[in-house]
Amino acid sequence: MLFPDYRPRRLRQNENFRRMIRETQLSVDDLILPLFAVEGKGVKEPISSMPGHYQLSRENIVKEVKLAHDLGIPAVMLFGIPDKKDALGTSAYAKDGIVQKTVKAIKGKVTDLVVITDVCLCEYTDHGHCGMVQDGIIVNDATLELLARTALSHVQAGADMVAPSDMMDGRVAEIRETLDENGFESTPIMSYAAKYCSAFYYPFRQAAESAPKFGDRRTYQMDPANSLEAIREVSMDVEEGADIIMVKPAMPYLDILYRIREEVDLPVAAYNVSGEFAMIKAADKLGWLDGKKAMMECLVGIKRAGADMILTYFAKEAAKELAGD
Ligand code: PBG
Repeated sequence: MLFPDYRPRRLRQNENFRRMIRETQLSVDDLILPLFAVEGKGVKEPISSMPGHYQLSRENIVKEVKLAHDLGIPAVMLFGIPDKKDALGTSAYAKDGIVQKTVKAIKGKVTDLVVITDVCLCEYTDHGHCGMVQDGIIVNDATLELLARTALSHVQAGADMVAPSDMMDGRVAEIRETLDENGFESTPIMSYAAKYCSAFYYPFRQAAESAPKFGDRRTYQMDPANSLEAIREVSMDVEEGADIIMVKPAMPYLDILYRIREEVDLPVAAYNVSGEFAMIKAADKLGWLDGKKAMMECLVGIKRAGADMILTYFAKEAAKELAGD
């Protein structure tokens, strides 16, 4: 059907028509808010490259979680920044580690919200890598036990779901087994399945003080040029027992998101990472674009590409926008 028989503009002529034919609905239900926990009292340390985000001590995290809950956001993702780092990242799996204590504090005050914890070692190791280092190499199999211990300690502290982001091979199976052996067979795993080695994590690494001290993460995170490999990574995690799989970052990888959504029948999450957030915030500050409009367009684009849920530093702002505030 060609012009003049078909006129696409007929159904665009006013907002009611546009609402009726809108194919993708972004909802507050889709949003997950990442938060950064630190030790101390009364800490609210701004993260310069992520306006509106802070390193927060426990009572301030609890406040932030309450705010998120009041906005209708169903879940938060917790990252911990410990006081002490060492070669084996021991504070990642300490009973009184920063994430463990923060989860307990949140669960003591807010019960009706999903607390997801990021499971990784890079914030806890003095070398800043996501796994154990031996002779300058990030070793895989020896790291698995540490990751599983970390995940278990988070769940024992009250976490509702764990999200391994380390990209070691076999970690989902190891974590699943450890959780099951300890009676946590009902706790789901959200796996960072297709996680690319990206320049867009830069602000996060400042926020979490987790940049690698030597080398980079290319021996474990994925090459941005690959998409078939993403399918292999995702298939592995599905077989190993992941409940939700994630693609990360989001915006430069919408093709991967689309493809994964077609390939698997599990819920798919997209991580709209720190650099994606920072770009929009910076351009908005310079007056080079309308930050709010750009935010909503990116989030709806990520959803349209196939995300069932979006981890985003825009979660609170987007929730307000969706509520018409
Ligand atoms: C830890 C981790 C990273 C992010 C989430 N978990 C950083 C990295 O892999 O270096 C990035 C999140 C973001 O940029 O918002 N492994």
